[in-house]
Amino acid sequence: MSAQTGNKTDNLLAILKLQPVVPVLIVDDAASAVLLARALVAGGLKAIEITMRTPAALDAVKAVAAEVEGAHVGAGTILNARDFDAAVKAGSTFIVSPGVSPGVLSAAKGSPVPLLPGAATASEVMTLREAGFGVLKFFPAEQAGGAAYLKALSSPLAGTLFCPTGGISLKNARDYLSLPNVVCVGGSWVAPKELVAAGDWAGITKLASEAAALKG
Ligand code: 3PG
Repeated sequence: MSAQTGNKTDNLLAILKLQPVVPVLIVDDAASAVLLARALVAGGLKAIEITMRTPAALDAVKAVAAEVEGAHVGAGTILNARDFDAAVKAGSTFIVSPGVSPGVLSAAKGSPVPLLPGAATASEVMTLREAGFGVLKFFPAEQAGGAAYLKALSSPLAGTLFCPTGGISLKNARDYLSLPNVVCVGGSWVAPKELVAAGDWAGITKLASEAAALKG
């Protein structure tokens, strides 16, 4: 299995520590992704995950990487090595996966770009620890057991840090952020479909500012 120690983990942590909330975006076109990313950065959310769930996603990563000053764009929903490599080529500074697979691990091993792999059980966390991963995405956070579940993992699996994602909003983000093993949370609530469709970038900046002000 691949290892991710030293610099790559440090680089990932530096990006994740920029803010308490990493926006998780599903984008329909690259041009509006740029405007959306600018609105999020203006609100204080600089690390942004664009999920590879739409045909526009790769172009959106490219455009945000090239055109949005201050943004650290990552690619999410990476399910195989081909998508990992394409996302890196497009300019992703970090890669997020909902879980873990041999293909994704092998792509991560050959790349200078850090991977945030997903885990939801003690065994998955242990497997990824053995592969050298000390920072994981806890997914799907609310559905898997929420903050209480993650808290229960923190003692036996001390030393592993998490970015919980899935079902998190302004209402419950603090439950996670107050845990010692949580670096940040991820969520789509800062970029609601209706505001994006309406081009309400000021509304999105306001949501981003509220999220950026969250403390543990
Ligand atoms: C996802 O990958 O879809 C993220 O977990 C976002 O989840 P959310 O929409 O519940 O914030």
